[in-house]
Amino acid sequence: MAKMTDVAKLAGVSPSTVSRVLAGGDAVTADKKQKVLMAVEKLNYRPNRLARNLRKLETKTVVVVVPDISNPFFYEIIRGMERVAQAKGYHVLLGDTQLNKQMEIEYIELVRDKLADGVILLVAQNPQEHIIEASKGLPIVVACAFIDGDDIPTVNIDHFNSAIDMVNHLVSLGHRRIAYISGPLKNNRLSSFRFEGYCQGLFQNQIEIEKQFIVEGNFTIECGYDKGRELMELPTKPTAIFAANDEMAIGAIKAIKELGYKVPEDIAVVGFDDIKLSAYIEPPLTTVAQPKQQIGAEAMEVLLRCINNETLSSQEIILDSELIVRESCGSHLRHT
Ligand code: RIB
Repeated sequence: MAKMTDVAKLAGVSPSTVSRVLAGGDAVTADKKQKVLMAVEKLNYRPNRLARNLRKLETKTVVVVVPDISNPFFYEIIRGMERVAQAKGYHVLLGDTQLNKQMEIEYIELVRDKLADGVILLVAQNPQEHIIEASKGLPIVVACAFIDGDDIPTVNIDHFNSAIDMVNHLVSLGHRRIAYISGPLKNNRLSSFRFEGYCQGLFQNQIEIEKQFIVEGNFTIECGYDKGRELMELPTKPTAIFAANDEMAIGAIKAIKELGYKVPEDIAVVGFDDIKLSAYIEPPLTTVAQPKQQIGAEAMEVLLRCINNETLSSQEIILDSELIVRESCGSHLRHT
C-alpha cells in the first residue's frame, strides 16, 4: 500500500505539501497541486485519516442537526452547507432529531468527545439554558432557530417582519378573517417570532385577533391537513389561511379541496419557506422565500471560522427574505 512519502517522491514535492493538498489548503501552487493529485491517483493512495486525526486532534467533520429530514426545506440549506464544507476540506454528518430533545444534546456531545469538530443546529428544541450549557466552549452555530443572550452565533431571516408583510399582503387583497396555523410554540423562538408577526400584522390593520382562527401545528404536512380541515369546519370560516411553513400550507390545501372548496376562490392559502414543490402544486403557493442555500453557506462559513478560532464580524447574521406572490391567494377578494 502506498504511503504519503511515496506520493511526495513521485510528485517531486515534500510530504508536508502532499498533506496540505489533501487537507484542501490553498497555500500550494496549482502546478504542485496537480502533480500531487496525479501521484495520488497513480499510486491509488488512500490517506490514513484516523492517524491524521489523532495527530492533529481534528476530524475535518462537522455535524448538522435537523429537526425533520422529511421537510424539503432542509435539503437546500444542507446543500449550501456542503458546498462550503467541501471547498474547505470538511465533511458533513447529518443528525435527524425528529424533534427529540435528547438527540439534540447527544449530537452536541459528539463534538465534546472529539468525534466532530463543530456542530450546526437547525433546531433548538431544548430550553436555551440546556443548549448553552451543553455547548460551552465548543464551536457551534444555530441557524433557522434562536439562542438568546449568549455567544452562540446565529444565522436567520427576520421572521417577525416577514410574517407582518404576509398579513399586509392578504389585507391588501381584502382579507380580514385571516386564520393562522403556527409551528410548535413551546421552546421554539422561531415559531413565536412568526406568530407574533401575524398578531402584529392584524393589529396594524385594526383587525381583532380571533382565538378560533389560531391553531397550533408542528410544521408537518399531515398536521397542516388536519388543521386546515379543522379551520374549514368552523361555523364562520376564515377567508384566508396563513400557515407558518409551506408543508403545512400544502397539507391544508389538500384538506380544503377534499371538503369541496376551491383555492383561492373560496379561501386563500399562503405559506412560509418557498420550498421547491410550492411553485409546482395546484394552485402554486404564495409564500415567504427564505434564502435557503445562502443560510446554509453562511452558517458553515461561520462555523469553520469558529473551529479555526477566527474572529467573527458579527454574532448575528440576518439575511433578506422575499414575498413571492403566486395564485394561491388569488386577486382581490370578491366576497366575505
Ligand atoms: O423546522 C421547520 C421549519 O423551520 C421549516 O419549515 C422552516 O420554516 C424552518 O425555518
